[in-house]
Amino acid sequence: MIYGRGLLGKMIKSALTSFLLATAAVQASPALTERHLENARSNDAYTLPKSDRNPRARAAAIEVKRKGWQYSEYPMGVAYYPTGTLANKTIAKDQETWLPPILKISEATTRESPIALEAIKAKGGFKKLEDYANLYDGQWEEAFPGGPFEGMLTNFTDDRMFSMMRLSASPYRLKRVKPSDKLPFLVHNAADITGISLDKLQAQGRLFLEDFSEMKELDPTDKFGAGCQAYFYIHPKSGDFLPLAVRPIVKGRENSALVYTPKDTENDWMLAKMLMNQNDGWHTTWAHITQSHSAAEAPYLAAIRTLSDNHPVLAMINRIEKTPWNIRPLLEDGVQSGAGPDAGPQYYAWTSLSGRQWANQVYSSGETANFQANYYRTFLENNGLINCRYGPALKSFPFYEDASVIVEAIRDVMTAFVNSYYPNDNAVAKDPELQAWQRETDVAKVYDFPKSIKTRRTLVDILTHQAYLGGIVHGVMSTNGAIGDTTSLPFAPAGFRQPIPTKKGVKDLMAFMPTPEGAVWQVVTYAAANRAMWRDTNETISYMFEDETMLNKMNPVTYQAAKSFKAKMDAFSKEVRARTFDKDGLSRGMPFMWNVLDPNWAPYWSVV
Ligand SMILES: *[C@@H]1O[C@H](CO)[C@@H](O)[C@H](O)[C@H]1NC(C)=O
Ligand SMILES: *[C@@H]1O[C@H](CO)[C@@H](O)[C@H](O)[C@H]1NC(C)=O
Ligand SMILES: *[C@@H]1O[C@H](CO)[C@@H](O)[C@H](O)[C@H]1NC(C)=O
Ligand SMILES: [Fe+2]
Repeated sequence: MIYGRGLLGKMIKSALTSFLLATAAVQASPALTERHLENARSNDAYTLPKSDRNPRARAAAIEVKRKGWQYSEYPMGVAYYPTGTLANKTIAKDQETWLPPILKISEATTRESPIALEAIKAKGGFKKLEDYANLYDGQWEEAFPGGPFEGMLTNFTDDRMFSMMRLSASPYRLKRVKPSDKLPFLVHNAADITGISLDKLQAQGRLFLEDFSEMKELDPTDKFGAGCQAYFYIHPKSGDFLPLAVRPIVKGRENSALVYTPKDTENDWMLAKMLMNQNDGWHTTWAHITQSHSAAEAPYLAAIRTLSDNHPVLAMINRIEKTPWNIRPLLEDGVQSGAGPDAGPQYYAWTSLSGRQWANQVYSSGETANFQANYYRTFLENNGLINCRYGPALKSFPFYEDASVIVEAIRDVMTAFVNSYYPNDNAVAKDPELQAWQRETDVAKVYDFPKSIKTRRTLVDILTHQAYLGGIVHGVMSTNGAIGDTTSLPFAPAGFRQPIPTKKGVKDLMAFMPTPEGAVWQVVTYAAANRAMWRDTNETISYMFEDETMLNKMNPVTYQAAKSFKAKMDAFSKEVRARTFDKDGLSRGMPFMWNVLDPNWAPYWSVV
């Protein structure tokens, strides 16, 4: 999400008001055939096409759906957006449940932000980085209770904070460097820092790169940022995952880009790390739109157009894809008002229009859109982060450790579900609606969707990934995740008030840092997605399948699998909540507590 922009929520309100009016106008009366479709819905169990007692009515109903759910382009870009009488009705109806929590948060930030601002000023403003604790301390009781994750406000000078954020909060752009890769830059004092030369680190598969250099091309506001490249490494002796260097690149100054390392002065190194964090904050903000939302919406729209509402697979997807269509209008509204002449002070380093363009770039390149390449194990393997053959394993990998527990539990449900409806692969291959879905994903421009759905395994993979996109990717990159780590202050400013230095020796770090107004804006912006107040409610991952109406229409095996998932997630939540800092002040090797994927805290769907 990106819409906490502008003057502390004032504009959110007007944006939402106009959006409300737009959807009210949409509720045109449905055609007669569509009313038939609705009457046909009943409490009958879901069925595969071959066991439907009235296949002609079923086929006719799908035809009605195809007419009522059409593809359209959307100003926001990325995947197709649904339009048509049925689509518009669903979008309007979804709005009734989707919007109230957003309005509630918006109301809370409007109320709480002047109080937070006052408190910061009363405590003398921001004079050193530690003072940003006052941004959160005792504030945001409703909008952001608890503040950034434990450790973020106190341990940010610890290099392991910087490096381990890449193995938890933002694992998506990190790659292990291959022995054969050409290095984007050199670090002459690498051996002083790591004990061995850069060449050796690379040859031993200990070197990692996170490259955001393309961000130097984005359209600047009156704030500043750079496109950064950073090296990390596995220490030859301790095995710790640590930062080696950051290279901030500014357009037009590429050849004189400075390379910062932990050997630089405290100020210089801190600034370099924050420049990199700013990139990650931008990435999480804009890439998540395509990486979680669009990547899931595209196959979903194709499924709506091809699977009967009585098909158990569509019922399952309907449950996972909760109210997805209201998000893009709000985002587009945010982009437009962020670009408007009365947008108010800019706090991002780059314009909202270039954010939209960049989001479309990472989507159309396939990076965030490719379906199979983003299966979590596949992308982690492709990036050399798990099962690497040319380098040592990571000692601690919190993202993978938590995500794998949840995703494998989801896979267990999907396996039980698919195997109980389809006795063998042949039954999958012979399901005409599934086959139509697969063909439709071409029309819907789903990138890298499986070329065929001929096995139960393929279907399990698809459904598991679909659930992963909403529950895990969105949870980590947005919802309760980003606001507590990759977009929290002081370590991750959204933009800088001073130009990127041309030489080392920064004297006054605070001149770069957000003002109290800018800091409050940053909380407001990211609080819009935060749903910490849904802790222990049925919106969380534990409840992913806990819809009694749906489950009662499924077969008993699926019902049981859903119950067993709930029990597994409750047990995992207990484990997560029992985590503490060890005697070295670390949790899983990290100087902060990363419990974003607590399944009784993280929502199961891509909320906003
Ligand atoms: C659906 O909504 C869109 C956007 O408001 C509108 O352009 C379109 O005409 C609507 N279609 C129907 C059939 O109501
Ligand atoms: C979730 O909980 C709310 C409030 O307790 C309830 O109204 C709603 O029906 C529940 N949803 C499902 C799908 O069970
Ligand atoms: C990190 O912060 C926590 C909580 O403030 C503290 O208990 C822990 O000792 C810190 N760890 C390090 C390595 O400083
Ligand atoms: Fe989102």
